[in-house]
Amino acid sequence: MSSDQWVEQFISHNSIYLLSHSVGLPLRFLESTATADFWQPWQNADSEIWTHWLAGIDSFRAQLAVLLNGEKDSFCPQTSLSSAVAKILNSLSLDKERNCILMSEEDFPSIAFALQKAGGFDYRLKFIPAEADTSDIDVWDKQTTSDVAMVLVTHVQSNNGRQLPVQLITNLSRQKDILSLVDIAQSAAILPIDLQAWDADFVIGSCVKWIGGGPGAGFLWVSPDVIERCEPQSVGWFSHSNPFEFDIHNFNYAPDALRFWGGTPSVFPYVIASHSLKFINNVGVDNIRAHNIELVDKIIQAISPEHLVSPVELERRGGTLILGFRDRDQDMIKRLRDAHVQFDARAKGIRLSPHLCNNSQQIDALIKLLN
Ligand SMILES: Cc1ncc(COP(=O)(O)O)c(C=O)c1O
Repeated sequence: MSSDQWVEQFISHNSIYLLSHSVGLPLRFLESTATADFWQPWQNADSEIWTHWLAGIDSFRAQLAVLLNGEKDSFCPQTSLSSAVAKILNSLSLDKERNCILMSEEDFPSIAFALQKAGGFDYRLKFIPAEADTSDIDVWDKQTTSDVAMVLVTHVQSNNGRQLPVQLITNLSRQKDILSLVDIAQSAAILPIDLQAWDADFVIGSCVKWIGGGPGAGFLWVSPDVIERCEPQSVGWFSHSNPFEFDIHNFNYAPDALRFWGGTPSVFPYVIASHSLKFINNVGVDNIRAHNIELVDKIIQAISPEHLVSPVELERRGGTLILGFRDRDQDMIKRLRDAHVQFDARAKGIRLSPHLCNNSQQIDALIKLLN
């Protein structure tokens, strides 16, 4: 499939859509395929409805395993990254000597809120200051002191568009006996990810952004090395090793990541997301990344370097280009909005995320507006 054929796979709209870091655009065929998988068995009053629905969730986990190079059993559906964070923290027993969670001021606030509230008085959050270069492993080395129990590593930080060296940080954490928790909300489906190579303890993500699978289909990956140590407090019958045992006096954790699941699960978001994941896996993340680099490089080469806020070096950038125009920011925002460019603006600048739904002609039109 050529890049122009990729564009045609997405719903039609009269704008240049550059918001895949926020809400990815849906594929044209999603509505009909998700309807077939979710509604049809329900409308047919099929008595095996849960068999159909659970197969949809199973397919979601299998597609994640392909995308991220992990075992299907190590993935558990979650409604959001924040809810996964709370479940992780409440599943671990506290070591009084190590009660600090290390994270960066440039991480996503919702994750900090969840860590703070789920940790209660037992844990203390320590922030790497916003000015520090979180892509420098020496910064992590200095900050991972003997009181640190867990590090939060955001693969791509949404404020500054910076990619962090996850594998170096997880290696460092392991050497220091520190648990690692990796947030891939901004990198899944746009940067290659190899969970086997990372060897983290926990990885959390969602499908609403670059995967284009809509909200509600979050996930948690738990390393087989730590699963036995995890005793989630928020459970339900789907966290049981045999959900259909129905012995009220006997709860047994599922042996795999599903112990983090809970009660009767939602289904529709996962059915939708499984089809988006299938499409992403068919195209291949290496091709998606190459397409993104080609389009972002076009913009980088066409504008003055003073406007570049996010990193340019390939190993330090994610999929989002952040541009700053200082006192001309508001004028630029208006110009882009008037021309039907879909983007957003945060404290550090204008965020633009070229993806499979964009082609070279759209980027040429954008460049004319930026200059
Ligand atoms: C880096 C990062 N983590 C997490 C989230 C979202 O977390 P949640 O699923 O809890 O809303 C976002 C959303 O923009 C994000 O950019």
